[in-house]
Amino acid sequence: MHNSISLKHLYYCIPISLRDGGVNISMSVFYITTPIYYPNARPHIGHAYTTVFADTLARYHRMIGDDTFFLTGTDEHGLKLQRAAEKKGVDPKTFVDEMVVYYKEYWKLLNISYDWFIRTTDDYHVHTVEKMISELHRKGLLYKDRYSGWYCASCEKYYSETEYEVVDDKPHCPIHKKPLEWLEEETYYFKLSEYRDFMLDVLEKTEIVYPKSYAVEVANRLKKEGLRDVSIARPKERVSWGVELPFDREYTVYVWFDALLNYISAIGYPDDLQRFNHYWPAAHHVIGKDILWFHTVIWFSVLKALDIPLPKKVLVHAFLVNRGIKMGKSAGNVISIEYMVDRYGVDGTRYILMRLMNMAKDVDVTQELFDNVYNTELADVYGNLIRRVGVLVKRKLKGRLEPTSVEQGIAEAIENALDSYSKEMERFDVSRALGTAIELLRKGNAYVNETKPWQQSDPSKSLYTLAELIRAATVMLHPVIPSTTSRTAESFGFPITTPKELRLGENGYTVKESPILFKKTG
Ligand code: MSP
Repeated sequence: MHNSISLKHLYYCIPISLRDGGVNISMSVFYITTPIYYPNARPHIGHAYTTVFADTLARYHRMIGDDTFFLTGTDEHGLKLQRAAEKKGVDPKTFVDEMVVYYKEYWKLLNISYDWFIRTTDDYHVHTVEKMISELHRKGLLYKDRYSGWYCASCEKYYSETEYEVVDDKPHCPIHKKPLEWLEEETYYFKLSEYRDFMLDVLEKTEIVYPKSYAVEVANRLKKEGLRDVSIARPKERVSWGVELPFDREYTVYVWFDALLNYISAIGYPDDLQRFNHYWPAAHHVIGKDILWFHTVIWFSVLKALDIPLPKKVLVHAFLVNRGIKMGKSAGNVISIEYMVDRYGVDGTRYILMRLMNMAKDVDVTQELFDNVYNTELADVYGNLIRRVGVLVKRKLKGRLEPTSVEQGIAEAIENALDSYSKEMERFDVSRALGTAIELLRKGNAYVNETKPWQQSDPSKSLYTLAELIRAATVMLHPVIPSTTSRTAESFGFPITTPKELRLGENGYTVKESPILFKKTG
C-alpha cells in the first residue's frame, strides 16, 4: 500500500502519449491531504478523527475508480519541536526520527491507506521551501522589519489583542489556555496585507472552503480587523531548528510557511511540474477548524503570490471535545487510540469516529456515546443481520443462493440508499452516508422479522433479497470499515464493486461462514 508512490512515479516517467496504451481514458483525479502533525507527542483520537476522515474519502474515491493520491505526514521544524527535543535532552532530528515512528505505527494500526508520508525534514521538501521563499524574495514580497507580539509556541502563532484571552491580567492562548510569551525581534515579513481583497473575493465568491460557514467566519474577521503583514522568519539564535533563509542565513523559515508547502512539494513542485499539474487541480485539504486561518488567508495568499492556482477544496471539521474542552495533550483530556482499539477494534474505532464526524459542530465525546454508536449500529444492525442471514442460508439452503429476482420494495430501498449514499459521499458527509447504509440494514432486519425465512418451505427469494441488501450495504460501509466488509464479502462470496456498478439479481452467493463481526460492549 505505502509503496504505491513508486508505481506512480514510474507512471510519470512514461510519455503521456504512451500511457494507458495511448487511449484517452477519462478518469477523475482525487488528491487528498491531512494536516501534517507535530510529532511532539503521539497522536490521539483527535488526530485520528482527521486522518480517518481523509482515509475514508481516499478509499471511497479509489473504490469508484478515481486516480487517488492520499498524503499525510509530520510537521517537524519550529520552536515547539525544538523545545520538545531540548526537554528530552536530544537533538531535534533524533527526536523527530523517534517520534515519527509512532505516527506511522498508529496509522498502520488504524489501516490508513496513505500513498505518501511527507516529513518536512525530507530533502525534497526543504528544497521546495528554499526555492519558494527565494521566489517571494525575488518578487519583492518580503521585507525586513521589527516584530513584537504575544506568541503561543504550541500553536506556533502570534495572537492579537482581539484573539487572546486575559487570565489574571495576563494574555493566554485561547486554545491551549496557557500564558503567551512576549517576543520582540527583527524579522522578515511577507506582504500579506496586499491580498485582502483577493481573499475576500475567494471567500465570498467561491465554494472552496467547505462548509461555507467557515469562509464567512474568515471573511468577517478580515472585514473587521483587516489584514496585516505576517512574519515568516525567525532569528536563528532563537529558533535554530528550521530551514535557513537562502538569502539570509541568520534566519530560519517560519514553521507554518514551511509546513503549508508540503501540499505541493509532495507532488513534485516545482521540479516535476507534470506530476504536480496532474494532481494539484484535484487537491482537497482536510483540516480542523483551529488551522482555518492558515489554510485560507495565509495559504491562498502564498499560492497567489507564487502564481499557483488555489486548491479545489478545504474541508474543515470541528473538534472532538472532552469534558467541555478541545481534546489535546496540553488540556490533559486525551482519549488514546489504543483505548479505542482495545474496546471497539480497529473498524469499530474508525466507524465511531466517522459516524460522529461533524464538520460544523464540536462533538462532546463520552464512553457512553461511543458504546451507543457501536452497539446500536455495528453490533445490533450490521453484525446481527450478517449473522442471521448467514446462519439461515447455511441451514435452509446449504449455503447456496442462486441469482433470482429481488423483492421489489427492498430493491427500491437498495437503489435509493445507494443513490443517497453516493450523493452524501460526494458532498463529504460521511456520517450521513453511513446513516443511509444503517437505515438500509435496519430495513433488512425488519424484512427478516416480517418474512420469517425459517418458517418458509422455500426461503430462496427472501434470503436472496437479503443477501443483495447485505452486499449493497457492505459496499457502502467499505471505505470506513474495510477489514470487516472484506470479511463479509469473503464469507458470503461476493466482490466489492462500486456503488454505481452494483446490479441487482445477477450475483450468486456461496456462504462459507456466518461470522460474528462485532461483540457488544458494556
Ligand atoms: N502542524 C500543524 C498543521 C500543519 S498543516 C500544513 C498542526 N498540527 S497538529 O498536530 O496540532 O494537528 C492539528 C490537527 O489535528 C487539527 O487541525 C485537527 O485536524 C486535528 N486535531 C487535533 N486535535 C483535535 C481534536 N480534539 N478534535 C478534532 N481534531 C483535532 O496544527
